[in-house]
Amino acid sequence: MSLPLIDVHTHMYLPRYVALLRERKQIPRIVSREKGDRLIILPDEDADTSTSAGRPIGSEFYEVKRKLAFMDQHNIAVSVVSSANPWIDFVEPDAAPKLAADLNDDLEAMCASSNGRLYGFGVLPLQRPETCAAELKRIAGLPHMRGVIIGSAGRGQGLDDPEFEPIWKAAADLGLFIFIHPHYGIGHELFPDTGHAMLLAMGFTFETSIAVARLILRGAMARNPGLKLLIAHGGGTLPYLAGRLDSCVKNDISKDFGLPKPPSHYLQQCWYDSIVYHPPAVAALTAFADPAKIMFGTDHPFFRPHVPEDVLDTTTWAVPEENVAALSGFDETTKKAISYENGLKAFGIKLPGA
Ligand code: URA
Ligand code: ZN
Repeated sequence: MSLPLIDVHTHMYLPRYVALLRERKQIPRIVSREKGDRLIILPDEDADTSTSAGRPIGSEFYEVKRKLAFMDQHNIAVSVVSSANPWIDFVEPDAAPKLAADLNDDLEAMCASSNGRLYGFGVLPLQRPETCAAELKRIAGLPHMRGVIIGSAGRGQGLDDPEFEPIWKAAADLGLFIFIHPHYGIGHELFPDTGHAMLLAMGFTFETSIAVARLILRGAMARNPGLKLLIAHGGGTLPYLAGRLDSCVKNDISKDFGLPKPPSHYLQQCWYDSIVYHPPAVAALTAFADPAKIMFGTDHPFFRPHVPEDVLDTTTWAVPEENVAALSGFDETTKKAISYENGLKAFGIKLPGA
C-alpha cells in the first residue's frame, strides 16, 4: 500500500485569473490556437509566434474537479494549492489590492467546498507593499488559507526590498507561510536556444537561491525569528551551497553583513518541498534541512505528460512518480514524514476521513 501524500507545491490559475489572461494581448496571456489554447507566461516566450509558443493549457489548470482527479490518480489526500506564476505581477498597482483580495476569496471558497481535500496559499499585491500586511491579516481569518505564494523577484527589487519588511513581520506574527517560488529565471543570455529546459532547470533554481540568500543576508530572518519560509524545488541550490555561502560571508573582507548567525542557520529554519527528482538531491536536502520541514510536492499541472486530453486524468504523471521514487531508499519514518506527516503538522490539517 503506497503512503498517502500531502502536496504542498501544486498550482491552479483561478477562473477569474484565466479570464484576465485571455483578454491580454501581451505576455502573460492565453491565446486560442487551432490545436487548443496556449499559455504564454515565461520571459521571451512571446517572441515565438509559431504554434509552439508557450505550452498547452487545458482545464487541468483551472477546474477543481481535474485537480481532484489528479490527486486521486496519485494518492494525494490533501493539496495546498497556490496560484501559479506570474501571479499578479503585471497588474497596475492601483488594481492589484482588490484583485489579490478577490483571488484569495475565490481560493478560500474553492477550498471550503472540497471536503478537506484542498487548502490554499493566497497572493499579495506586492506592487503596493503598504497594503500587504492588511491582506495577510485578512487571509489569516480565512479558514483554509495557510499563507501566501511570493515570486522570487518580489516587485522587481528582490525579496530584500526594504518596503517588504512589514510583510515578513505580519506573516511571522500571524503564523502564515511564505512560499517562495521562481518565475523570471536568471542567466537567460547564457543559454540561448534551449527551449524551456535550461530556464526551468537552472534559471528557476538559481533565481530562488539568490532571492532567499539575499533575504537572509539582509537580516529579514534574523529580525523575524518566527518567519516561516517554504522554498520551492528543494530550495533550488541552497542545501548544496549553504556551506559555501557561510564561508563566503564569513571571509568577505569588503562587507560585514552583521548577521548574528551564519546564513545556514536561517536556511535550516526554512521548509522545503521535495521536488528534486532523484535520490542524491534528496540526500543533500535531508542531510541539510530539518527533517520535519521537508514536504512532498508535484508542481502540477506543469510538466504534463504527452498524452491525449481524454486520458490525461487517468494517466500517471512523471513528476509525482519520480519524487515518490526518490524517497524509496529512506526508512519508513522518514518516508512518512516527507510524504504527509510534516505537511499535516506544518499546516495544522487532518487527513480527510481521519
Ligand atoms: N513552469 C512554470 O512556469 N511554473 C512552474 O511552477 C513549473 C514549471
Ligand atoms: Zn511551481
